Amino acid sequence: MAGSGAFVELLEEDVYKYYFDGEWRKSASGKSVSIINPTTRKPQYKVQACTQEEVNKIMETSKVAQKAWAKTPLWKRAELLHRAAVLLKEHKNPIAECLVKEIAKPAKDAVTEVVRSGDLVSYCAEEGVRILGEGKFLVSDSFPGNDRNKLCLTSKIPLGIVLAIPPFNYPVNLAVSKIAPALIAGNSVVLKPPTQGAVAALHMVHCFHLAGFPKGLISCVTGKGSEIGDFLTMHPGVNCISFTGGDTGIAISKKAGMVPLQMELGGKDACIILEDADIDLAAANVVKGGFSYSGQRCTAVKVVLVMESVADALVEKVKAKVAKMTVGPPEENCDITPVVTESSANYIEGLVMDAKQKGATFCQEYKREGNLIWPLLLDHVRPDMRLAWEEPFGPVLPVIRITTVEEGIHHCNASNFGLQGCIFTRDINKAMMISDAMETGTVQINSAPARGPDHFPFQGLRDSGIGSQGITNSISMMTKVKSTVINLPTPSYTMG
Ligand code: G3H
Repeated sequence: MAGSGAFVELLEEDVYKYYFDGEWRKSASGKSVSIINPTTRKPQYKVQACTQEEVNKIMETSKVAQKAWAKTPLWKRAELLHRAAVLLKEHKNPIAECLVKEIAKPAKDAVTEVVRSGDLVSYCAEEGVRILGEGKFLVSDSFPGNDRNKLCLTSKIPLGIVLAIPPFNYPVNLAVSKIAPALIAGNSVVLKPPTQGAVAALHMVHCFHLAGFPKGLISCVTGKGSEIGDFLTMHPGVNCISFTGGDTGIAISKKAGMVPLQMELGGKDACIILEDADIDLAAANVVKGGFSYSGQRCTAVKVVLVMESVADALVEKVKAKVAKMTVGPPEENCDITPVVTESSANYIEGLVMDAKQKGATFCQEYKREGNLIWPLLLDHVRPDMRLAWEEPFGPVLPVIRITTVEEGIHHCNASNFGLQGCIFTRDINKAMMISDAMETGTVQINSAPARGPDHFPFQGLRDSGIGSQGITNSISMMTKVKSTVINLPTPSYTMG
């Protein structure tokens, strides 16, 4: 079922087409994949189940298109990206509507995701023309024993085909955060959107189509992971993989060939709250960080480590805020909306039941209807409970009481994850020392973890990822340095 204002040219009968060689097409498989609306738990959309043969054709076409694109002037690449950004913003409502139906993102946040994506694409175009317009000039006599007869010129060249695999929670924003850097750097892109979120991603791709990018440069392939998942990530045509998601990323990194990888995987982002913290500020951030988009963010606060002396005060304030949260459908802009699938809801419930059985204190009654789970704060969580370590990706937040700061740092560093963390204290010296001790890609002082603004570096340690994102880092990661060395005659050569 297409939403009002959706791009009808993407649909044939009731199945969304895939995008290849500048056209919307039906798969030869004759099969489709259903997308279940997390709120109604009924089929909402259908997308093409593409075949391996179709992936092969996409790769061949992508390779040819990339060669020409690499020679397209940078300003021209940037101009097309700016056009796509405008189109994305113009079509924010129909795209947001897909996000509401496919991933139950609250309507207001869905619009924000699309606008943020337009901003990201524009910024990327601006940044690209600056950083890709510069190279280096090195002279040889700076190295011991060398004369000044070699001049080295370096520039950044594209890698080739970038395979972009975004996650369900930001199918538009985390797609463009891969597509825009890849394109400005002169690469072609093959996008494999998540099943939940695929239709929003197809709408986003149509904005790039309307912007007038050359045929074959951008492709979007939909289908079953079992049929085309490994086939794509292990495809010899792929020159770079940028993936955001869960454990699948670990499997991909083991199977992928000798190509640069950019991986953003899970997080168990700790929030350390000291005795001297502004407890109102900390409570507001625990709620925002822990429960926005129902906790389905890799940067969500996933464990609160609070000093025992202020724990009662913090828990009371958080409880009061949680009591005011609205729970219900995304169309009504509720704070808490259904989690993405029934299996996610079951997983979250498993963590809650484990904590219950092991004696955690429930600050609210546990309540679930279908995929909708009411926000739940669990106090007195101990390290033997799964919730202390596992990522619920849902509106369930454990509180661990600590008696020393070292205990908090130790818990944070003992996790398999190392994405972000945050510290609440009024003592900046202490904050800096704790930040230094926390083994995470980013530490936020006096605010909840977050990826944005989207030009900030974003990276995780251990199982949280490979490489660093953020617009500048992504552009650099999707290029390679090329050197040209001019060899002058030896110093004995005379010019006269
Ligand atoms: O889920 C992972 C995202 O990168 C988190 O992004 O901090 O903007 O919500 P966000």
